[in-house]
Amino acid sequence: MVYRRTTSAHRDTHNLHGRVPAGPPLTLLQDVKRTLLALQNAPGAGKERELVRYEALMWVLNSDEELFFATAQHDLRSVLPMIYTPAVGTACLNYSHLSIPARGLWLGVDRAGSIETILANYKSEFPDVQVICVTDGERILGLGDLSANGHGIPVGKLLLYSACGGISPSACLPVTLDLGCDTDSIRDDNYYIGLRQKRVRGEEYDAFIDEFMKAAKKVFGRNCLIQFEDFANRNALRLLNKYKDEYCTFNDDIQGTAAVGLAGMLSALRMDGVPSSLNEHTFLFYGAGSAGIGIANLIVQELVRQGVNEADARKRCYFMDSKGLIYKGRGNLTPEKETFAHKVSDEVKAEAKNGIAGMVRLLKPTGLIGVSTIYNAFDTEVLEAMASLQRRPLIFALSNPTSKAECTAEAAYKATNGDAVFASGSPFDPVTIGDRTLVPGQGNNAYVFPGLGLGIVACKARHVTDTMILAAARRLAELVKDEQLAVSCVYPPLEELLDISAEIAHAVAMQAVEDDVAYAKDLPTLERVKQMMYAPGRGLTK
Ligand code: NAI
Repeated sequence: MVYRRTTSAHRDTHNLHGRVPAGPPLTLLQDVKRTLLALQNAPGAGKERELVRYEALMWVLNSDEELFFATAQHDLRSVLPMIYTPAVGTACLNYSHLSIPARGLWLGVDRAGSIETILANYKSEFPDVQVICVTDGERILGLGDLSANGHGIPVGKLLLYSACGGISPSACLPVTLDLGCDTDSIRDDNYYIGLRQKRVRGEEYDAFIDEFMKAAKKVFGRNCLIQFEDFANRNALRLLNKYKDEYCTFNDDIQGTAAVGLAGMLSALRMDGVPSSLNEHTFLFYGAGSAGIGIANLIVQELVRQGVNEADARKRCYFMDSKGLIYKGRGNLTPEKETFAHKVSDEVKAEAKNGIAGMVRLLKPTGLIGVSTIYNAFDTEVLEAMASLQRRPLIFALSNPTSKAECTAEAAYKATNGDAVFASGSPFDPVTIGDRTLVPGQGNNAYVFPGLGLGIVACKARHVTDTMILAAARRLAELVKDEQLAVSCVYPPLEELLDISAEIAHAVAMQAVEDDVAYAKDLPTLERVKQMMYAPGRGLTK
């Protein structure tokens, strides 16, 4: 429905008079402002309002893609939460009840054996696919197994690839692999859109994933990026390791999170009062799942790149999980945890189960990284213990949503007299301590994956190497300006995401060439990357 912007000349040449209202056409900027006003005035409150806006935006997307992306790019800070977290979580919980146009593909395990045909049919209508975001719907955000209802996640993620990374919407394909659902309330809902069966596991699961991967590579080409999203812990790392050397693939929950976490740490090194070398830091991770282990592994890779040997680099990271400190000889550790199980004294072992504050006093970490989903785990005692040991402790409470954060920005700043370098997964407002206003950094994956994806597409990468992820983290850290560091913020402003993505894409592409995994013969310049970007909202005056 672009009639509001149809010019007089267009009406003449396309015989549209009478088909559009006679009033003067709107400019794109006017149409964007009208859309934002409508969203601002959307009725209802809380989750009901999230759904109203989500449905409205999905229809705008369907009928007028240019307007949708121009609106998102014009006011990212407002629109991002309406199409991504938190609204997308509410949308997924209610997906079977929403009145929205279908987008992308649901591939049911009942169609096993026909996936290549389904993808080829899709390609005949949409020939430009270069990026696929795929989920099996088993761990949608922190909401559990939503299976087919989780489709909002690959849809939302790819909207961000376009809105924040400038990848053309026509190049993006969201896919949900429907292997059944183990959440009874979802599966038994009368209007549920997915297969009404329990989740398939074991060999049948692996065979279906394999069929999809092979078919996607065959139909869309060997450098079509396949991004895994929201797979359960039991499959996420396993599938990544299985496919990463054979396909162009990465897992944002593991690698994107790692890059954002490391970037926050690297930019903190430039702050007064923070030890300026990564190797001078010791991090205590509270939570040892995909996010924590992913960040720690990337810290290790960065240290190794700087010349530290791997065994010493691993000693910079300690972990606590639900059973207390992870140490050598604790027993029953997964292989991933085992690599961070260090020899500790008997005194540490005796304290290992007695909470974080004791561990802080004994291990003296410079940074505390919360990835446990335990609200308020970093209580005043813990925060004060950090402040008593470090002039400027790093306190990253990364668990999402806000209700799971290990501490609030205010608690971290108050307990440390404003000295903490705080970052979080969910947004917190600025906090004033004395005469200083401190701005919490939001470690949002959206800082990295759109640029990473753009870089991969721009250089036609064969694989996504760990060094490409590192390059993304380092570039993001470099983009943090002194004015952000001065207010204790370790990330750049979200409003600059399009330019940030271009910079990250360029760094990633350069690294891909260095790693000899790029098919493209000529490495695009930063200017060329910017020109390649789909950005209808860029340059619209405010
Ligand atoms: P996960 O389920 O893989 O890991 C959670 C970990 O927390 C497990 O090791 C578990 O043992 C530990 N844990 C649970 N209860 C605990 C307790 N009482 N004490 C100590 N440890 C405990 O989850 P994942 O994927 O690692 O995510 C963790 C959190 O990080 C989530 O809230 C997620 O939303 C958030 N996250 C944030 C991101 C960001 O800010 N950009 C990106 C990815 C995840």
